[in-house]
Amino acid sequence: MNHETPIDCFSRSEEETEAIACRLAQQLGPGSLILLHGAIGTGKTVFARGIIHGLGHSDPYITSPTFTLVNTYTQGRLPVYHFDLYRLESVDELFLSGAGDYLDAGGVCLVEWPNLLIERGIKDYLEIMLTADMNEPMAHRLIRLLPHGPSSRQSLNHFAWPVQ
Ligand SMILES: Nc1ncnc2c1ncn2[C@@H]1O[C@H](COP(=O)(O)OP(=O)(O)O)[C@@H](O)[C@H]1O
Ligand SMILES: [Mg+2]
Repeated sequence: MNHETPIDCFSRSEEETEAIACRLAQQLGPGSLILLHGAIGTGKTVFARGIIHGLGHSDPYITSPTFTLVNTYTQGRLPVYHFDLYRLESVDELFLSGAGDYLDAGGVCLVEWPNLLIERGIKDYLEIMLTADMNEPMAHRLIRLLPHGPSSRQSLNHFAWPVQ
């Protein structure tokens, strides 16, 4: 059971999803763990890009690290470790490859396809759930932010969308 209160945001475009993520980035501190849920093409990587840019990393091309497990960004306000665990068969693989070390490196971790990581047992993380509704226009997304634990909850304390 989760007793935390979610925040729902509505996005009408790729740019708006990026702006929501960029706004969230302003609230993040060292050690933030952000799990990105959603079907293929819902905008997990777009959201990750918004956080990465929002933290001051200017890399123009940000793609899912599907084959490399993790991409690192080091020149912004906080380092970012962007994971894509789609191809991962077991969490052991993540730690044996060394990529798992980044989870405790004090940066901001963004994880696409995080289910294996959740099964392993993790504490204090912010879940982002992206959904597209077949009955709505193609570019509409519901983006739900759900904290689990005190620091992820705190990161939402001053978050509002649309910005007030
Ligand atoms: N509101 C929206 N938010 C995010 N992406 C959107 C939106 N509307 C359309 N798109 C498109 O959906 C795709 C999302 O791609 P991507 O972020 O790579 O998805 P995922 O990582 O979830 O597989 C992009 O082609 C983007 O242009
Ligand atoms: Mg992706």
